Amino acid sequence: SDDVQVIFTPSGKRGRVARGTRVLAAARKLGVDLDSVCGGRGICSKCQIAPSYGDFPKHGLHVEADALSPVNAVEERYDRVRGLKPGRRLGCQAEILDDVVIDVPPESQVHKQVVRKAASERVMEMDAATRPVYVEVEEPDMHRPEGDFQRLAQALERQWRIAGAKADLELLRVLQPALRKGGWKVTVAVHDAGDGPRVTGIWPGLREAPLYGLAIDLGSTTIAGHLVALDDGRVLASAGVMNPQIRFGEDLMSRVSYVMMNPGGDREMTQAVHSAMGDLARELAGEAGIETGEIVEAVVVCNPVMHHLLLGIDPVELGQAPFALATSDSLEFPAREIGIEAAPSARVYVLPLIAGHVGADAAAVALSEAPQTREELSLIVDVGTNAEIILGNSHRVLACSSPTGPAFEGAQISSGQRAAPGAIERIEIDPETKEPRFKIIGNDHWSNAPEFGEPRITGICGSGIIEAVAEMRMAGIVDTSGLIGSAAQVGTERCVANGRTHEYVIHDASPEGPRITVTQGDIRAIQLAKSALYAGARLLMDEMGVDRVDRVVLAGAFGAHISPKHAMVLGMIPDAPLSAVTSAGNAAGTGARMALCSVKARREIESQVRRISKIETAIEPRFQEHFVAANALPHASDPFPELRS
Ligand code: FES
Repeated sequence: SDDVQVIFTPSGKRGRVARGTRVLAAARKLGVDLDSVCGGRGICSKCQIAPSYGDFPKHGLHVEADALSPVNAVEERYDRVRGLKPGRRLGCQAEILDDVVIDVPPESQVHKQVVRKAASERVMEMDAATRPVYVEVEEPDMHRPEGDFQRLAQALERQWRIAGAKADLELLRVLQPALRKGGWKVTVAVHDAGDGPRVTGIWPGLREAPLYGLAIDLGSTTIAGHLVALDDGRVLASAGVMNPQIRFGEDLMSRVSYVMMNPGGDREMTQAVHSAMGDLARELAGEAGIETGEIVEAVVVCNPVMHHLLLGIDPVELGQAPFALATSDSLEFPAREIGIEAAPSARVYVLPLIAGHVGADAAAVALSEAPQTREELSLIVDVGTNAEIILGNSHRVLACSSPTGPAFEGAQISSGQRAAPGAIERIEIDPETKEPRFKIIGNDHWSNAPEFGEPRITGICGSGIIEAVAEMRMAGIVDTSGLIGSAAQVGTERCVANGRTHEYVIHDASPEGPRITVTQGDIRAIQLAKSALYAGARLLMDEMGVDRVDRVVLAGAFGAHISPKHAMVLGMIPDAPLSAVTSAGNAAGTGARMALCSVKARREIESQVRRISKIETAIEPRFQEHFVAANALPHASDPFPELRS
């Protein structure tokens, strides 16, 4: 017959096509995911496939060596100029002449699976909103009055079946020179997240490099970003800049108060964060060696106050009950509106907010950690100046946020500092001698003083202070109420009087650095922070009707460095087997990256957010009770049986 059978692997999709059909056309017809940027012109090489020959008893098929047409002139030219790997053919050129089995290698799939190294082993699928498309546009003609963009849109429809593409003013401003420079052949970035196609960038000729996107985690203290290739999701550069809003207030509520007391203060803060967004985009592009104009999309996750200030919405309503958000839905708008330097009409997607105190950053954590996919009850804690707490399993997911303050990040601690070279990040205290040993960032061994030539000690970072307080508790230097004993009580000269309280000296002043101590005030600051965190978790557990969780996930750029054992000794997190306490790294950043790479992931989190129940800690009377009881180390009444083992 004139029909032949074709089977595609690894998808297993099969069907009959007319003899002589090109592989790319057969793939389109059978719904097989085979990439193409040039639309079958034999110049982009994205459509590479590998035919298999021989017997396929499973399919009852025998494939002859000449099942595909011989290499034609276009393919021969491509192979000569650019080189094709052995066994590979261009799917847009090779014709199917006989029954055949065709493998689509991962790099030729648009919807590739990307393996994530995060705690959950879920793979993510590439399903980017923006893709590059090469088109050949008809030249203008005196007798046809339509504009250049209309002819570009017609070409998209004819050559790609992309109908009704739109463009905004920024794109129209660069359209004509690009078309003429490319000789009416251009590559355009086409964005479609379910709201219709939109041309967001244009390059003369065939653009061979992938398109790029930014995943941004806008925190109160730090703005962290990844530059991601939108063809396969790889991260090409990561960087962080300080949030310049810090000069208006360290934490969220002080920034809201700044707005209340200073008319126009919200605009000042909005401008500050927009300029930082521009800096971040430039820094990431520079690091990756690309132009900012090659960035076509960005995804931003942040807490509600940051969200409103980023969007230029006055955040005052978030400073008082009932904490009304201007909007809780996800948003999409031009990237230039928030200062991101990118392609002319690059788009930004902002994840939905969960509630007035529970932001898009928590939504991103929920997307990345997916507690709803597990039977076991997971407690996910994203530790920062504001802790995002999620408790859930396949039946129900709850979320809240808790104002822990910046102590966990080393701020408001007498010897505290940000995690940077010279900071003590790990510490051990011998329970007998009460002598400390520590590890400082930038130095890979343990000691009790840096040796000559090693970085000097400059302070203690967040994970260091948590370990220090927990180790002091375990060595009997502080009691369960958090009080530091005197030298006589504890039996070490390292406990010295400081006013009416005591402090523990980790490192005495020396030429190598300042004196590093843990004061009574530091212990109190950590107690307040950990009580807020624990009380938030307990509130969710009450609501869920449980007094134990199956697993605990510590997340956040900083949370990932916390030692589970020390967190539990302090009673930061509820009791659980230590082996069930894991770290998820920057889960909010991972969630942002997932949303950047996949429209499906965006839809997933949008529907998930509607099913998450929010608990407002600020108006819950039991929060205060839990907070007070959690002040003890580890806790005044809750048992911590796992700690004994
Ligand atoms: Fe571009 Fe085949 S589709 S080379």
